[in-house]
Amino acid sequence: MKHNFDELVDRRGTECKKWDTYAADIIPMWIADTDFKCPQPVIDAMVKRAQHGIYGYPINCKNFEQSIVNWQKKRFGWDVDIDWVEYTPAVVPAIVYAMRAFTSPGDNIVIQMPAYHPFHDIIPHNGRHILGNQLIRKADGSYEIDYDNLEELLSKKRTTMFLLCSPHNPVGKCFSREELERISELCLKHNVFVVSDEIHSDIIYQGSKHIPFGSISQEAADHCVVCVNPSKTFNIAGVRTGAVIIPNRHNHDLFYAPLEDNKAYGRTVFGTLPIEVSYNECDYYADQLLEYLAGNLACLNKFVAERIPRLKVTPTQATYLIWLNCQALNMAPKQLNQFFLEQAKVAMNEGSTFGPGGAGFMRMNIACPRSRLVEALHRMEAAINKL
Ligand SMILES: Cc1ncc(COP(=O)(O)O)c(C=O)c1O
Repeated sequence: MKHNFDELVDRRGTECKKWDTYAADIIPMWIADTDFKCPQPVIDAMVKRAQHGIYGYPINCKNFEQSIVNWQKKRFGWDVDIDWVEYTPAVVPAIVYAMRAFTSPGDNIVIQMPAYHPFHDIIPHNGRHILGNQLIRKADGSYEIDYDNLEELLSKKRTTMFLLCSPHNPVGKCFSREELERISELCLKHNVFVVSDEIHSDIIYQGSKHIPFGSISQEAADHCVVCVNPSKTFNIAGVRTGAVIIPNRHNHDLFYAPLEDNKAYGRTVFGTLPIEVSYNECDYYADQLLEYLAGNLACLNKFVAERIPRLKVTPTQATYLIWLNCQALNMAPKQLNQFFLEQAKVAMNEGSTFGPGGAGFMRMNIACPRSRLVEALHRMEAAINKL
């Protein structure tokens, strides 16, 4: 089956956060969903289920869990036991549940900066402290881990969790096996539990490879929760369903108890179905999406290098979220955001919202038909030329 990623689908008027937040003349390239229709088998399955006309309580036949086991095996070679998998109401809530299960109020949680913006909210909102390990930007614009600082933060008395974003949003870094092993080693040494948010793990460009954190060693598996969701890949974030993989039984039970206590495990018929169909039948779509996004990334790199040299594209190994260095424009964060919005009519995420290291950057979502990406780039070029 061939998916048409060039199709321009009008999303306005569908209560769509990305498009309905802004006026009609703005190209939205911010929040992390795609402008692509989801795979046809998913649409067909949803329509068929909708036409049945009865949406009563579902029973858990383990089809959902099996689809996650299948995907981890065929895409990443990780042998996941079906009993390690649990349904969650999406990834961010799963991280909150893990934080409550494995840390106490007042504890420190380490994240790597700049960091996905909700991490900045959920940690203090749950009475824990953020310790930021600043990623180091190298001369070519790519990022590496500051292990010395990481160890210092992990060794603090009340540090009990490391929230890893793998691959990393917003800098588009895919962690190598060596990096993950070193992280794991340091966390084990200081008895720090790892939550690995692997929501972007399907979007990895040539030359890099995603390695599930729980697959690197038995010790790592015994000290982690891995969060997954096909929502970024198959554009189904609106069904608000995700999953965790917890290889250690004791950890699994600790995680699951509050969901049981709060009766927060009730799955929905339209939440689990698209995940099952995506993971079981839509490898072709994930492969073609990746190829299309690689084309978009190449197009962006070429356009910026040739026509907007004042911007720099961060070398990107993963995700469709591009970390655009706009420091040469010499604008304060608010002004930079306003400039792109008002002069270029392009909405992106302003870098300082991701924390330290974000000022002067914009995060650009390139998961759209190429014609739209090119139009946005022309608008940005024209606006910058007028400065
Ligand atoms: C790193 C990361 N984690 C989690 C999410 C959101 O996950 P969910 O919608 O499943 O809560 C996003 C969305 O952009 C993300 O980039």
